[in-house]
Amino acid sequence: MTRPERSSHLQQYQQASQQPEQFWAAQAAQLQWYKAPASILHQQDAHHYQWFADGELNTSFLALDSQIFQGRGAQTALIYDSPVTGHKQQYSYLQLRDEVALLAGAMQQLGLEKGDRVVIYMPMVPEAVIAMLAVARLGAVHSVVFGGFSAHELALRIDDATPKLVLSASCGIEVNRLIAYKPLLDEALSKAQHQVQHSVVLQRPQLQAEMTVGRDLDWQQLLQGASPAEPVPVKATDPLYILYTSGTTGKPKGVVRDNGGHAVALRYSMQTIYGVQPGDVFFAASDVGWVVGHSYIVYAPLLTGCTTVLYEGKPVFTPDAGAFWRLCAEYKVKVLFAAPTAFRAIRKEDPEATLQQYDLSALRYIFMAGERLDPATYQWVTDKIGKPVIDHWWQTETGWPIAGNPAGLGLFPAKAGSSTVPVPGFQVDILDESGQPVPTGQQGYIALKLPLPPGCLISIWGNDERFVDGYLSTFTGYYASGDGGYLDDDGYLFVMGRTDDVINVAGHRLSTGEMEQVVAAHPAVAECCVIGVAEPIKGQQPLALVLLKNGESISELQLEQELAALVRKEIGALACFKKAVLVKRLPKTRSGKILRKVLRQIADGQSYSIPSTIDDPACLAEIEQLLAQKQLS
Ligand code: COA
Ligand code: AMP
Repeated sequence: MTRPERSSHLQQYQQASQQPEQFWAAQAAQLQWYKAPASILHQQDAHHYQWFADGELNTSFLALDSQIFQGRGAQTALIYDSPVTGHKQQYSYLQLRDEVALLAGAMQQLGLEKGDRVVIYMPMVPEAVIAMLAVARLGAVHSVVFGGFSAHELALRIDDATPKLVLSASCGIEVNRLIAYKPLLDEALSKAQHQVQHSVVLQRPQLQAEMTVGRDLDWQQLLQGASPAEPVPVKATDPLYILYTSGTTGKPKGVVRDNGGHAVALRYSMQTIYGVQPGDVFFAASDVGWVVGHSYIVYAPLLTGCTTVLYEGKPVFTPDAGAFWRLCAEYKVKVLFAAPTAFRAIRKEDPEATLQQYDLSALRYIFMAGERLDPATYQWVTDKIGKPVIDHWWQTETGWPIAGNPAGLGLFPAKAGSSTVPVPGFQVDILDESGQPVPTGQQGYIALKLPLPPGCLISIWGNDERFVDGYLSTFTGYYASGDGGYLDDDGYLFVMGRTDDVINVAGHRLSTGEMEQVVAAHPAVAECCVIGVAEPIKGQQPLALVLLKNGESISELQLEQELAALVRKEIGALACFKKAVLVKRLPKTRSGKILRKVLRQIADGQSYSIPSTIDDPACLAEIEQLLAQKQLS
């Protein structure tokens, strides 16, 4: 693979590839370990590697106490800005550490110990960040569940992670609508097989939740009787968190992140990729329920001594499409990070960027990830805001960027549609079906050569077989990313989209397989297929093609409404499921496999070739006609 000549990047890239132990040992040395690791990289078997196996540390200590020891006690660690409640609050490193230590002490009194799990189901309030850091302080393992998920999805995660405690809040606020979290939590707890010992509920002034005596505890009351807890040393390889993500099946998979590799990688990424230094202000406009929130709202900025912005609002309507620019100006944000969908929403509301009348002199870079950055959005933000726009590619599984334009090492000339070059530590190859590298410029499966650098997933919670089968067995010696794309002659990576049945709706990763399970459970449905089709703001939206049972006469509109309600109830509002089409036949191979790719191409109005394996070619024209009649956006 040829790479563009940028000497700092090239030097680090080569060292990380050729001498990974030296390279990552030097990065690890920047952290305050309880026991510095002597073992840097250890191969356990053909598939598993451990980073810093004999090192001991505590991630919460590194994010807070260690920063205070370095003189940042009075510096602002966290800025909470909530247009939906009209509230703003800042926490210094000292204040944040004290809040975290107190909540950790309270959980310790409830019997929480190293290795125990805690599910966190909360809106974007400081207590969510405090909760994550408090769990980490005790060496316990958090699993944050995004607030837009349904009770059913929450119950699935509770059963899989088997937490001792659940931390939640009375409500979230979506623009001007209160979303009562507690009834969802109650439903999830009653659906789950696993019994939690307690749920701790933050009563927000906007809505008082009803409490179940004996099980539910009031957050503030709990703190009143608590004393602060000290950080508990853990092994570098001990889990810090589980974060569930969508795969191709109905069951979400719990990505497990370790403590040591995570801290080392995130700290490295802040300086190298994002070009920030201690004291800089970082604003990741995501949610703590997603990996971007874990890595770049909570852990990376604090591990680096930066100030992080926690924003409880939307890019638009809270109150308007100037919200991001107001925040950047007010807090002198150096790096803004958001999903392209957020900028498409801003562009729709404010196409001429007239609301960008703020002083953005502190803003150096705008990073985007979570979905493909389409060239039109890239161009609009570049033109209207006049700051470097950096596309970078990563996944819940990797926890930090695989490819990007490394602001800290000197920017490469940008190419619209490309996430630029592989980050030092990631060895990216494009492979064909049989695992052979394809020529430059040709599309294939994007695969990462093993070992993965520190910070990437170490397993799937409770199911290591799924880790090996799902990621490490497709191509020998590689991690299969699930994305397709190509490298051009200059070594730039173009990520073109998923090669599996995962879709991306408004930067949220969803499984069509999971939606199919819900659709198929409707009593009128004989067979179905859910695909992602292009949508101008959210990137993709789900569409169900449905075959009714013999004798069923439900109308398309009626079915569509019932299915939308079902998916909302079973998966959550974030799935944005709104469209269904009745078909007479689904295109299949002779062995019975639904030809999803062709369906996607038809729905997106792309040209397609009729596969030779198709059982009934005539049904394609029929579906083309039905979809042409359907208003898809
Ligand atoms: N709790 C409860 N419900 C939530 C929720 C939460 N935390 N987040 C979203 N929802 C609900 C919304 O209210 C909406 O419900 P509705 O169908 O009743 O209106 C539904 O889920 C879909 O939400 P969303 O996809 O966010 O659509 P939207 O129209 O409200 O906003 C965008 C559109 C583009 C502004 C918004 O999706 C966005 O900011 N996306 C960025 C995503 C992101 O940060 N991804 C992380 C990767 S970097
Ligand atoms: P998630 O795990 O939710 O972060 O989603 C990861 C998936 O989002 C990836 O596998 C890609 O399909 C997509 N993705 C994330 N960032 C990018 C990007 N910069 N370009 C293209 N696709 C992206």
